[in-house]
Amino acid sequence: MHLGLIMDGNGRWAKKRGLPRAAGHIEGMKACKRVILGARNLCVYFVSFYVFSTENWKRPAQEVSYLMSLLAKKLPGETDWYKENNVRIRVRGNVDGLPEEARNAVKNTVEATSGCNGITAVLCVNYGGQDEISRAVNRFIEKNPGKKITVADIEANLDCPDIPAPDMIARSAGELRLSNFMLWDSAYAELLSIDKLWPDWDQEEVQTCLDALAGRTRKFGGLAQ
Ligand code: IPE
Ligand code: IPE
Ligand code: MG
Repeated sequence: MHLGLIMDGNGRWAKKRGLPRAAGHIEGMKACKRVILGARNLCVYFVSFYVFSTENWKRPAQEVSYLMSLLAKKLPGETDWYKENNVRIRVRGNVDGLPEEARNAVKNTVEATSGCNGITAVLCVNYGGQDEISRAVNRFIEKNPGKKITVADIEANLDCPDIPAPDMIARSAGELRLSNFMLWDSAYAELLSIDKLWPDWDQEEVQTCLDALAGRTRKFGGLAQ
């Protein structure tokens, strides 16, 4: 079971309280930890978090650098927590395009948790579905110049080819958009929008996702079993 999460509404959460947007991002990080534990409790094996999109660079420089500093400065301090809770961190996205400190923090966390197997949390950073597909195609071309590319070739060259496609993609804050998230492997994902803002999420919303999924009939183009 793989749950993809588009974390949205950090800014609105802060605004409602008269706080700076940064406060919403800090609360959003706390929500990630609650959701990881909740997902693990509910036997979800993969959970992907949309942390920073290839379009988020358009935000004011101050917010971008704050989000990058959260990765660079906060993530290293959380590594022990991930290990204690048997959480393996993986990364998806154009990591080479991150500032050095953030890139190193992400890479070190992936490395440090590589032996954990309670749940895998995939951080999608500097991630865009379109960018991932174009990087996958370029990887293929480099290895196979002049050859035609197939669907299986693209799949094999995505950032985490060993991780199954998400069964469900859920978005917080009530929005109904993919915003460039997992464009390739959303092909047959069940979709859900939950009104609650991201910083207010915990295990209950993971349960809501699982309940919704249980009520869907997945046919993958075939007929219901
Ligand atoms: C999601 O919350 C966090 C990121 C995209 C990094 P937003 O920052 O998009 O919050 P809103 O949409 O302004 O409420
Ligand atoms: C999507 O949220 C990106 C992440 C959650 C990282 P945005 O808040 O950036 O999306 P839009 O701009 O509303 O589509
Ligand atoms: Mg938003």
